[in-house]
Amino acid sequence: MKPPRKLHIKSYGCQMNVYDAQRMVDTLAGEGYIETGDVNDADLVILNTCHIREKASEKVYSELGRLREVKDEAARHGRRISIAVAGCVAQAEGEEIIRRAPVVDVVVGPQSYHHLPQLLAHARRHGRALETEFPVQDKFGFLAPPRAEAIRARGISAFVTVQEGCDKFCTFCVVPYTRGAEVSRPVARIVDEVQRLADHGVCEITLIGQNVNAYHGEGPDGRIWTLGQLLHRLAALPGIVRLRYSTSHPRDVDDSLIVAHRDLPALMPFVHLPVQSGSDRILSAMNRKHSSDDYRRVIDRFRAVRQDIAFSSDFIVGFPGEQEEDFQATLALVAQIGYAGAYSFKYSPRPGTPAAEIRETVSATEMDERLVRLQQLIDSQQSAFNQAAIGTTVDVLFERSARNPGQIVGRTAYLQPAHVMASPDIIGKVLPVTIQSLERYSLLGQLAPPTPASQAQLAPADVAPADVAPADRTPAEIMTPAHITTGA
Ligand code: 5AD
Ligand code: SF4
Repeated sequence: MKPPRKLHIKSYGCQMNVYDAQRMVDTLAGEGYIETGDVNDADLVILNTCHIREKASEKVYSELGRLREVKDEAARHGRRISIAVAGCVAQAEGEEIIRRAPVVDVVVGPQSYHHLPQLLAHARRHGRALETEFPVQDKFGFLAPPRAEAIRARGISAFVTVQEGCDKFCTFCVVPYTRGAEVSRPVARIVDEVQRLADHGVCEITLIGQNVNAYHGEGPDGRIWTLGQLLHRLAALPGIVRLRYSTSHPRDVDDSLIVAHRDLPALMPFVHLPVQSGSDRILSAMNRKHSSDDYRRVIDRFRAVRQDIAFSSDFIVGFPGEQEEDFQATLALVAQIGYAGAYSFKYSPRPGTPAAEIRETVSATEMDERLVRLQQLIDSQQSAFNQAAIGTTVDVLFERSARNPGQIVGRTAYLQPAHVMASPDIIGKVLPVTIQSLERYSLLGQLAPPTPASQAQLAPADVAPADVAPADRTPAEIMTPAHITTGA
C-alpha cells in the first residue's frame, strides 16, 4: 500500500475560507491525502487566501517567500513539495502570482476547488496549472462530503455555506469580483449536509454566505425559499440545537427572517449586521443602498420580536472623503445602537474597485486616530455587555476541553466563551451556567441546576462525541464576533 500523501492547508480571512478549506481537505482525502499541521512534513501546501484588504493580500507573498525555503530544503533531500494558492487572491491576481512567486505550482479560484485533483495532476505533468474561471457548474455538487471521522474531529459546531458571491457592489469591496455573482444552494442539498453533520454529533450550525440573508435557494416544492424559510426547515432537524447565520446585509432583512427570530428558539439572538458608516453621505458614496435611519429601523424590527437580541457590526474608517462630521455620525450611530462587539477597519483601496479611483483621500494619521476613537467606544460597549452577564444564569453550549485541566469551554448565545469545571461528557450539551466573573473576554462560572428551556433543548444533543478537543483559540479571536465576518 502506498503511504498517504500529506496536505498542509492554511486559511486566511473569513469563515467561508474555513469552510472551503475543509471541503478541499475532504475532496483530497479521496486522492489519498491526509492533513498535517507541520508544513515541513507536507507533500502539498495550500494557502487559502483573502483579498479583502491590502494587508491580507500581502501576507500571501511573505508566506510564499518562507515556503520557497521549505520547498528548496525538501528538494535537497529528494522530496517534492507542491504549492497551491487558492482563495480570493488567486481569483484576483491569477497568473501574476506565478510571476511574483515562481515557487507556486497551482493557482485555483474559489469556484474551482472541485477541480483540484485534476489541477494537481496537470501540474505534476506540465509544471504548472491555473484555473480562475467562474464555471457554470455548482462546485458544491462536486466537492466530496466530509467523512464521519473528519466531522467528529472538527467538533460540535460547523459552518455550512448556503450562499456565495454578492451583487451589491459596495464601491470599496472586492467580493463581487473575487467570489462572483450571488448564488444560493438548493434547500435539499443544505438539509442533507446538515443532517449528515448532525448524525455525527454536530449540534450547532452557522449558515454562511457573503450576503447570507439574500439567500434565495430552490426549495423542495420548486419555489424559491428565503433564509427565514430555510432556518425553519433546519430547526426541525433532530440534533440541531443552535442555528446562526452570517453575514447579513441590512437591505435584505425580510419579514421571514424576523419571524424566524420570533419563532425559533434554536435561532440564536445574536446578529452580525455590518453598517460600515453612520454618515448618509458616506453610505451613499459606498453604494450601500441604505441610509443610517434605514439601518436603525432594521435593528428596531429585530428588537421588536426579541428583546434579548444583540448585534455586532463592521465599520470602515477613512473612506475617501470622510470628514470629521461623517465620522461623528458613525460614533453617534454606535452610541445609539449599543453593540456586543464589532470590527473596525481602516479603509484599504482595492485595485479594480470604484472607490480606489477617488482622489479625495483621508490622511493616514487621521485614519489611525479615528480607528482608535471608534475602537475605544466599541470596546467599552463590549466590556459593558460582558460585565452584564456576571451574576446571571445563561445557557452555554459546551464545545471542548479548555487549556486549563478540568475546565470545559462553551459559548453563550452571544458567542462569549464560558468556562466551567466539569466532566468532558457535557461536551455537546446546552446547560445553564451561573456566571461569576470575567477574565479578559472569557466568562467564568459554574453549572447551575437545569432550566426548563435548557432541558427542552437538551434532548436531541446527547449524541455529541466526547473526544472533541480542537486547538484552543485565543480569547480575542473567540469573542470578537467579526472573526466570523465575510461580506455584506
Ligand atoms: N477596506 C477596508 N475594509 C474593508 N472591508 C471590505 N472591504 C474593505 C476595504 N476595501 C471590510 C468591511 C466588510 C468586512 C468583511 O471587511 O467592513 O464588512
Ligand atoms: Fe457585497 Fe458586503 Fe462587499 Fe458590499 S461589503 S459588496 S454587500 S460583500
